[in-house]
This record gives sequence, structure tokens and C-alpha cells, in this order.
Amino acid sequence: MGEPVRIAICGKGGVGKTSVAAVMVNCLKGEPGPRRILAIDADPACGLSLALGVEVKKTVDDIRREVVSDAKRGAARPEPLTVRRIEHDLFDALHEQDGFSLLSIGRPEDEGCFCKVNSLLKDLIAELAHAFDFVVIDGEAGVEQINRRVMKQVDYLVAVTDTSLKGIEVARTIAHLALDNAAVDCRELGLVVNRARSEEEASMVCARSGLEAWGWIPEEEAVRRLDLEGVPLHALGQDSPVVRSVRSVLSRMITR
Ligand SMILES: Nc1ncnc2c1ncn2[C@@H]1O[C@H](COP(=O)(O)OP(=O)(O)OP(=O)(O)O)[C@@H](O)[C@H]1O
Ligand SMILES: [Mg+2]
Repeated sequence: MGEPVRIAICGKGGVGKTSVAAVMVNCLKGEPGPRRILAIDADPACGLSLALGVEVKKTVDDIRREVVSDAKRGAARPEPLTVRRIEHDLFDALHEQDGFSLLSIGRPEDEGCFCKVNSLLKDLIAELAHAFDFVVIDGEAGVEQINRRVMKQVDYLVAVTDTSLKGIEVARTIAHLALDNAAVDCRELGLVVNRARSEEEASMVCARSGLEAWGWIPEEEAVRRLDLEGVPLHALGQDSPVVRSVRSVLSRMITR
């Protein structure tokens, strides 16, 4: 099995991370060739699952809690058995839908506790990822979350921003944390401007951020509308401006 292409989406709250991640998964599904896709929902509110139309039954947090509560009751198993049990449970938590699988991380762990279980879970998620060609992670607002809760390494870190100064500032902070402080180990980082009203507006945002621009996505009424109606984003057609823009961002990453 080859290495999967691991893509993580991050940025300020509400800039469109989940929408971009969901459309990315849908675009990858439609591509020719081997396309085993793992979508990871790292937002405790399970936004990606909703946008992809998945009903979450079990999260990684549920698994962690079961293991920890067994250990507290004195029912801890010797380590190899615990590893095998978590592997089994992760597989169980993997939701398979037409063309992709989804793993939901659930709530953040209690600060500072049970490091061993957490790092075991992360190792096993990284191992699980090897069964896929693409991994798309919809992160919480902060980049450390991805490192701390999901995976130590990704290939592409996509910093999404809207046209707000605050959004740009958060993208810059993420880039600083990722590239200078190694908060997450990524091969490349790029900026995607979402909800821009013109190319000119998007260029202004890119210039202000100082980051490498990987593309821009226009504001599209249908996207907002589907969210309001609770309809998964695969309802967007192939010629939706948002779908086309996301596809172009993707091709930029994949063909490098
Ligand atoms: N290009 C777009 N055009 C129109 N509406 C959009 C676009 N992108 C996102 N939206 C809308 O903006 C809102 C926020 O988007 P989304 O939930 O994807 O952001 P988020 O960054 O994941 O938010 P959170 O930080 O809360 O997880 C949603 O109502 C979504 O439908
Ligand atoms: Mg979200």
C-alpha cells in the first residue's frame, strides 16, 4: 500500500472549512482511478458528517472513554490486547458511505489525561489512513488540534479564510505555527480564499496574507441555502462555481 495524500483544512471559525472539506471529498469521489477516501471530522460539532450526510454512531472519543473507564474499573487488558481492541473499535467507528469512509473524532479529550490512550489512538488512526488514497481532515479552528487530536503529519495544510481581516490574521497565525513552530508537520501550506465576490477581492486577501495562494472560491447562494435546509453538499452540481473552484484547488495539490 502506498502513502495516502493527507489534506487538512483549517482556519478561523465560520470561514467555510467544513464546506470546503465536504466538497473536496465529493470531488475526489468523482475522479477516475483508485480513490479510497477517508474523511475525518475533527470538529466536536460533527459538521463534516452533516455536510456529507453521514449519521455518526460512534466517535473516537467514545472509544477512548470506554478504554479509560475499563482501565479505571480495573478491567485493563495487557497492552497488545488493548491495541487490538482499539483497532477493532476504530474499524467499527468507520462509517462507509458511497465512495468514502468517515471517522468522527468527537469531543476533545480532558486536558492532560490519559496521554497513553490518546497517542495510541493517533498512531492507530495514522495506520488506518494507509488503507486509503486520500485523507481529508476537517479541523477545528486551531492548527494544534490537528496535531494533538488527529495526526502528527499531513501533506497539505489548507488555510481557509474569508475576506475578513480576522480570517486573514488567523490564517497567518496558522502558517506561523505550522511552518515556524512545527505545531503540525506539513509538507506544504497554501491559502484558499472563500466567499470572495471577485477575483480582485481574492487577490487583495492573498496579498495581505503573504501566503502562497492555492485558489479562491466564490460566494454561492446554493451553498448557504443547502446548509440552511440541512441538505448534504453532494446536491451541488458539477458546474457549481464552488465545486469547480475546489476541484481546481485539489488539482493543484495532487499534480505537484
Ligand atoms: N462559498 C460559499 N458561498 C456561500 N456560502 C458559504 C460558502 N462557504 C461557506 N458558506 C456558508 O458559510 C457558513 C459557514 O460555513 P462552514 O460551516 O463550512 O464554516 P466552518 O469554517 O466549517 O465553520 P466552523 O468553524 O463553525 O466549523 C455555512 O452556512 C456555509 O453554508
Ligand atoms: Mg466546520
